[in-house]
Amino acid sequence: MPPKPDLKSIVAGIHADLAPRFGEGKVADYIPQLARVDPRRFGLAVVTLEGETFLAGDAELPFSIQSISKALMLTLALGRHGETIWKRVGREPSGSAFNSIVQLEAESGIPRNPFINAGAIVVTDTLLAGHTPREAIAEIVRFVRFLADEEGIVTDKAVARSEEATGDRNRALAHFMHSFGTLKHPVDHVLGVYFHHCALAMSCRQLAKAGLFLANNGRNPVTGHSVISSARARRINALMLTCGHYDGSGDFAYRVGLPGKSGVGGGILAIAPGHASIAVWSPGLDATGNSLLGSIALEMLANRAGWSVFGH
Ligand code: DON
Repeated sequence: MPPKPDLKSIVAGIHADLAPRFGEGKVADYIPQLARVDPRRFGLAVVTLEGETFLAGDAELPFSIQSISKALMLTLALGRHGETIWKRVGREPSGSAFNSIVQLEAESGIPRNPFINAGAIVVTDTLLAGHTPREAIAEIVRFVRFLADEEGIVTDKAVARSEEATGDRNRALAHFMHSFGTLKHPVDHVLGVYFHHCALAMSCRQLAKAGLFLANNGRNPVTGHSVISSARARRINALMLTCGHYDGSGDFAYRVGLPGKSGVGGGILAIAPGHASIAVWSPGLDATGNSLLGSIALEMLANRAGWSVFGH
């Protein structure tokens, strides 16, 4: 075993090394409410399996987790419905943008994976089974609070409304899938719930805590809560590695070597299995819609801590 990394100085060092670059990248503006965020924000949180927490910068400030919710919703859906969800959504990298519609027609309305928008909309549809939209949203918020072991987590209503008002592309994807029978519930209900889980506001510290179960075979090592079986945790990690950054997934795996899920709010949740759960936030995005400095920070962390799923 390599020596235990000095996470206190690694986390502080990454923050200091990146400080001159804060503000780089382009903040998402297709959801107007996201464009209001200060591009110079930067937060980093590492929570180890022993529960030790290392924070830097704006790690306590809640931000819009956006597509990071897709990994948490997949966990909830797998827990509720098991493997049956794979009849309606695939497990292959898309090689396309997160909101692309082109593959859907060729592949009969079955999205490539649960992390592109179309796939996450299908997962959201499964969460509506037996629930009104309001109940589904309440269940989602309860689940995320349970994962993070924090009661204060809420959805940002202004972000949800902003997305609702500008959600034409998601509406197009959803109607298209409804026409194929991939969605079982009314499009408005499914998107209402989808926009709300994307609008969950969490700090890096809360998000890293929420991801701990993925670093520890499905069980939160701090609370002792069993979230999901170890086989499922392993598979969610596999999907995060192959699909978590859309058409930037290969580059992220090459540079960082850890499962990760990004969001257009500029956050990334990354998992170092057996070691830690990590959340980073920097609102400026690269051309594939992933946090520019966030992925650089994770590349530094993986290198400096010696963490990779591919070897030391
Ligand atoms: O549906 C959308 O477009 C957003 N709520 C989420 C997109 C997103 O986060 C893509 N991630 N990089």
